[in-house]
Amino acid sequence: MSLFNVYPLNPIAITKAAGSRVWDDKGQEYLDMYGGHAVISIGHTNPHWVKRIEDQLHAMAFYSNSVIMPIQAQLATAINEISGKKDFQLFLCNSGAEANENALKLASFHTGRKKIISFKKAFHGRTSLAVAATDNPSIVAPVNETGNIIFLPFNDIAALKNCFATESNEIAAVIIEGIQGVAGIYEASVPFLQAIRKCCDEAGAVYIADSVQCGYGRTGQFFSHDIAGVNADIYSMAKGMGNGFPIGAILIAPHIQAKFGLLGTTFGGNPLACAAALAVIEVIQKENLMDAAAEKGTYLINALKNTAGIKTVRGRGLMIGFEMETGLEELRKVLLNDCKVFTGEAKPNVIRLLPSLAITMEDINLFLNRLNAAIQQLKQTHS
Ligand SMILES: Cc1ncc(COP(=O)(O)O)c(C=O)c1O
Repeated sequence: MSLFNVYPLNPIAITKAAGSRVWDDKGQEYLDMYGGHAVISIGHTNPHWVKRIEDQLHAMAFYSNSVIMPIQAQLATAINEISGKKDFQLFLCNSGAEANENALKLASFHTGRKKIISFKKAFHGRTSLAVAATDNPSIVAPVNETGNIIFLPFNDIAALKNCFATESNEIAAVIIEGIQGVAGIYEASVPFLQAIRKCCDEAGAVYIADSVQCGYGRTGQFFSHDIAGVNADIYSMAKGMGNGFPIGAILIAPHIQAKFGLLGTTFGGNPLACAAALAVIEVIQKENLMDAAAEKGTYLINALKNTAGIKTVRGRGLMIGFEMETGLEELRKVLLNDCKVFTGEAKPNVIRLLPSLAITMEDINLFLNRLNAAIQQLKQTHS
C-alpha cells in the first residue's frame, strides 16, 4: 500500500537526532533550524525527556479518562506555575488543531453564540472549525464552509471595533496567533491585543490566544500574547509542549465553567504524553530556556539584519522569519542540499527559523556561517 501523497517530501530519511542535529540514513549530519516545525523545544532526544517517557512506559502506558490520573494534575500545576496563569484550568488533547477546535467550541458553549472573529492569513489547523477559521480556502472542504467566521485585517483596531459595534451580541470569540507563523512571521501588535481584550470584555466574548506555534517559551515569554500585559480567556498549545511526543491542550480561565461531557477525548492526557510534557517543563526551568530563547533570538535577529542579501527580518525570540533579496529565491534549497541546514518556509519568499530553545551559540554561529556561504554561492552562480 502506498502512503496518501499529501506532503511534498524532501528526499531525505532522518533516522537519528540529538540536540539541534539530525542524521540521515547514510550518516549525513544536518543542522536543524526548523525544530521539526517548531516542535522540538528542548532538543531532539533530550536525555531527561527520554528517561521520563521510558519510566512512564514501564509503569503504565494508558488508561482512559474515566479514572484519576495524578500525572495530569501534576502537569496542570506545572503549567500554572511556568505560565503564571495560576488559577486557569487545563484540558488535554492531542494536537494544535484539536486544541483550537475545543477552544472555539468551548467559547460557543460558554457564550451561547455562533460567530468567530479570525484574521487574514491566520492558520489554526485542519479540523472542522479550526480550518474554517483558517484564511486559506484551498484547505477548507465544502463541508467545513460556514458563515460563522468573520475574517478581519490583522492589526487593524478600527476594523475590529467596527465589527464589534455591529455584531457584538453574536460574537462568541476572537482567535488570534500572537505571532502568525504559517503566514510568514507577523507579530500581533500590543495595542491590537489590548483592543481585542477590551472588545471581548465589553461584548462578553471569549479571547482565544492560539499559542500552538508561538507559545511554550519560544519568544522568551511562555505565551507570546502576554507581551500585551492582558490575559486571554483560553490559550491553545501543542507543538513544543511534548518535544515531539504528540500532545495539545487548552488553558481555560476560571470564569469558564466545566460540565460533565462538555469536552472529551480518548487519548488526550494519556500518561506518556503527560510525562513528555512534564519533562519539557522541567528542562525549560532547569536550563532557563525561556531567557535563553530571548537572548539567542535577539543575537540571531541582529546578525540576520546585518547579513548582506537579507531584505527583512521579523519575529521575536526563536520564532524568526526573513526575506531574501531578488536572485536568492533558491536559498532554502541551497541551505538544505549543499549546506545541510533544515529551515522552514512561508510562501512566497520567507525562510522561517524555529529551532530548539536549547540550541547552542555554537550551532547558531554555525548556521550564520553556512547562511553566508549559501548566499555567496547563489550570488556567484548569478554573476
Ligand atoms: C498557529 C497554529 N495553530 C494551529 C496549528 C495546528 O496544529 P496541528 O498541526 O498540531 O494540528 C498550527 C500548525 O502549524 C499552527 O501553526
